Amino acid sequence: MEYYPNLILDALKHVVHPGKGKDIISLGMVEDDLRIDGKRISFSLLFDRANDPLVGSLKKACVKAIHSYVDEEAEIEGNIYVKVKPKTKPIVAKPLEGVKNVIAIASGKGGVGKSTVTSNLAVALAKAGYSVGLLDADIFGPSVPIMFQTEDERPVLEKIDGKDRILPVEKYGVKMLSIGYFVNPEDALVWRGSMATNALKQLINDGKWGELDYLLLDLPPGTSDIHLTLVQTISITGAVVVTTPQNVALADAVKGISMFKSKNINVPVLGLVENMAWFTPEELPQNKYYIFGKDGGKTLAAKLEIPMLGQIPIVQSIREGGDKGEPVALNESSMTAMAFADLAQKVVERVEHRNAAMPQTKIVEIKK
Ligand SMILES: Nc1ncnc2c1ncn2[C@@H]1O[C@H](COP(=O)(O)OP(=O)(O)OP(=O)(O)O)[C@@H](O)[C@H]1O
Ligand SMILES: [Mg+2]
Repeated sequence: MEYYPNLILDALKHVVHPGKGKDIISLGMVEDDLRIDGKRISFSLLFDRANDPLVGSLKKACVKAIHSYVDEEAEIEGNIYVKVKPKTKPIVAKPLEGVKNVIAIASGKGGVGKSTVTSNLAVALAKAGYSVGLLDADIFGPSVPIMFQTEDERPVLEKIDGKDRILPVEKYGVKMLSIGYFVNPEDALVWRGSMATNALKQLINDGKWGELDYLLLDLPPGTSDIHLTLVQTISITGAVVVTTPQNVALADAVKGISMFKSKNINVPVLGLVENMAWFTPEELPQNKYYIFGKDGGKTLAAKLEIPMLGQIPIVQSIREGGDKGEPVALNESSMTAMAFADLAQKVVERVEHRNAAMPQTKIVEIKK
């Protein structure tokens, strides 16, 4: 009789791994090197280690299965080899060259002020003497070009080692990249998911940031493909979650926090920012009106045992600064700039604390 591969493989399905209770084919223990040469059959069995105690008995069971289900005369004895499975190493992300810390600014709910907080935090960090980059990861709704009044800028491309690198736009001491510098926001809006994630990867991998103490990522709201792409592309030092004190925003903040903490993603949460914590008229800074409720973020941070990084009031100038591209954090003597300077200080402390306590964040492996 003539042997053929499926005949052998079907026979090997009868060999069950006693510890795992499954057959060796489903367990992927039979290597792809099956050879048939007349009556001679050979293949390799894959084990986690060469001295696995089951090597002998599983080899014997394979011989027996082939003799009973294929042919008694098959020459298999002595032709089963043992190979050790290559170890899948956890991938430690190649950190972006020269970038010390990558901080993702996220929220569950949209419109809570991520982009406002990110741009002011970037300016406050730059004012405090750090080198800062800002990557607008909101491909479908980029805000960075507006918030820095750089809509008309076009990043310069430079060939470095045969590869096109993108030089970020620089303003107020912050280096920025945004999809908004390359395409009309309306055009990006109709992109399919894969186009958006590819554009983001390109901004990350081709951006030439140089030496940075902090690279801030302004994320889109919620928990999207963009978030997954980011954790699969760069090692994120930590996440800052922004919320307003309202219940609806808090509930979504919890979802955002759980996403970062989930086993698959595992990005440390540096803390919570409560934005729009109260309304203050600029001329009466001591007056506080808790229009979205009082201390909602603070209470949530305590409950989840994550650090509270700051409370930012609603002030008209913060909104105006965003709209005209002059973040309030620029005007150091204002009370709003002080709130962002305090926030920057807290973020620096938390990052230092995190880096002292934990190794670099592992990049998320892409499961095929
Ligand atoms: N503390 C604040 N005081 C006054 N206005 C604010 C404050 N924070 C944010 N805003 C305003 O609220 C609006 C939404 O803010 P922003 O765009 O920063 O939110 P976002 O969370 O980034 O939104 P999206 O989810 O769409 O990305 C903007 O007009 C902004 O100027
Ligand atoms: Mg935004």
